[in-house]
Amino acid sequence: TETPVCKICCIGAGYVGGPTCSVLALKCPDIQVTVVDRSELRINQWNSDKLPIYEPGLEEIVKQCRGKNLFFSTDMIPALKEADLIFISVNTPTKTFGLGKGRAADLKFVESCARLIADVCEGSKIVVEKSTVPVRSAASIVNILKANTRPGVSYQVLSNPEFLAEGTAVNDLTQPDRVLIGGEESEEGKKAIAALSWVYQHWVPAEKIIHMNTWSSELSKLAANAFLAQRISSINAISAVCEATGADVSEVAKAIGLDSRLGPKFLQASVGFGGSCFQKDILNLVYISESLNLTSVAAYWQQVIDMNEYQKTRFGQRIVQAMFNTITDKHITILGFAFKKNTGDTRESPAIYVAKHLLEEGACLHIFDPKVEKAQILLDLEQTEEKTGASCVSIFDDPYEAAKGTHALVVCTEWDQFVTYDYQRMYDSMLKPAFVFDGRKTLDHAALTKIGFHVETIGKRP
Ligand code: NAD
Ligand code: UGA
Repeated sequence: TETPVCKICCIGAGYVGGPTCSVLALKCPDIQVTVVDRSELRINQWNSDKLPIYEPGLEEIVKQCRGKNLFFSTDMIPALKEADLIFISVNTPTKTFGLGKGRAADLKFVESCARLIADVCEGSKIVVEKSTVPVRSAASIVNILKANTRPGVSYQVLSNPEFLAEGTAVNDLTQPDRVLIGGEESEEGKKAIAALSWVYQHWVPAEKIIHMNTWSSELSKLAANAFLAQRISSINAISAVCEATGADVSEVAKAIGLDSRLGPKFLQASVGFGGSCFQKDILNLVYISESLNLTSVAAYWQQVIDMNEYQKTRFGQRIVQAMFNTITDKHITILGFAFKKNTGDTRESPAIYVAKHLLEEGACLHIFDPKVEKAQILLDLEQTEEKTGASCVSIFDDPYEAAKGTHALVVCTEWDQFVTYDYQRMYDSMLKPAFVFDGRKTLDHAALTKIGFHVETIGKRP
């Protein structure tokens, strides 16, 4: 029997395209997977020993498959021409200009992919929307493809949103909770859905692959991220009540999470959520709701973002207050700059917000993160080489060196290694009184207090 899919091309070699296609290549030795990107730098990195993104377990997979059935290339046209199935995994950032500025998703990269596909493809193709997009985006892709189709060419557009989280991408991809495929009800639509299901069935049990209409699939992605972020904002809102009353948010989270209807996951109060998607996708949902005149719905979801801003602000202010209301010229250590552990990604990291707040108050920062590149931190803090000297941002590759001579440690990322550091050694090298501000609630606060630290954390009175 004929295999439904022999060659796959994925446009976008980012945090989604790279890991997704690597796992796909690993699990489907009978399929040739080519990941293309217009960024030569990114492609060169994927073809080198140092991958452009850090993701536990990914390097081994890439090494195993690269050059066999996994290829990274900037040569988009031949890869598109050859492919039976094309994933669009390009970025869909929040618009920074024009209508919907600051909220709507910018679909210019998705649209340019659709136009390129229409320009170069000759046979029938399945085009899979993997990027997170507003509801009904597939209709625009269909429109562009149909308006530019040459005789003998046909397209089916599917929605197949990605649910992986950074830091656990390989696990999430190899053992997904579900795979969502949205498509048309027509015969051709069903055939395309079956072809993509066949690809996933190489490793995902059939009952976990669910089919639905395209708009449900697109909306489910936005809804899932909105619900996840809402849980964090909810527990963070409760953390503020805890700080004001003497309740402890860890105890409250434990009590809530034992209700089987609520469950224990995603109830970790923090300095606020970060990452490239939660805020972007909720803003997108807010914008869509407003465009549909659903103002109450828009206001409801906007609150999830507002609460997150409030949480980040509160944490920054608390640091200044605890340190006698002035941090001008004080040296402060930031432990962790990534938006979560096990990634080098800093997009929308709450650490950026906290660091900027402390800099505005006149502090000098010593920053340490096990995976984030120095240049990335400077870029995020808008520090140029000459500005660095004056405004005092130093980046360290050793946490003990970073802590030396500072007044405080501020934990912004929950890296496992932070728990096992020798805090006595850090304390001895710091100015007194020495403070710890734990924005992730992962350190042993009793032990730190015993050493002599003044400890403050989220959702608990000092
Ligand atoms: P990314 O910025 O890491 O990667 C996108 C890549 O697409 C970049 O390398 C860029 O150069 C490339 N690109 C953009 N336009 C192109 C074009 N016209 N031709 C060729 N290449 C082009 O983005 P990402 O984090 O991988 O996210 C991609 C999409 O997946 C977004 O819609 C995002 O919302 C969604 N998503 C992301 C995650 C995540 O954890 N990062 C998880 C689920 C879904
Ligand atoms: C999130 C979703 O979890 C994925 O399912 C989704 O595919 C992805 O967004 C996306 O669409 O991009 P990601 O942002 O990579 O994944 O990471 P999360 O684990 O969701 O963490 C997001 C932020 O929330 C981090 O800053 C994390 O530290 C914070 N968080 C998470 C908390 O503060 N408390 C928690 O209990 C959980």
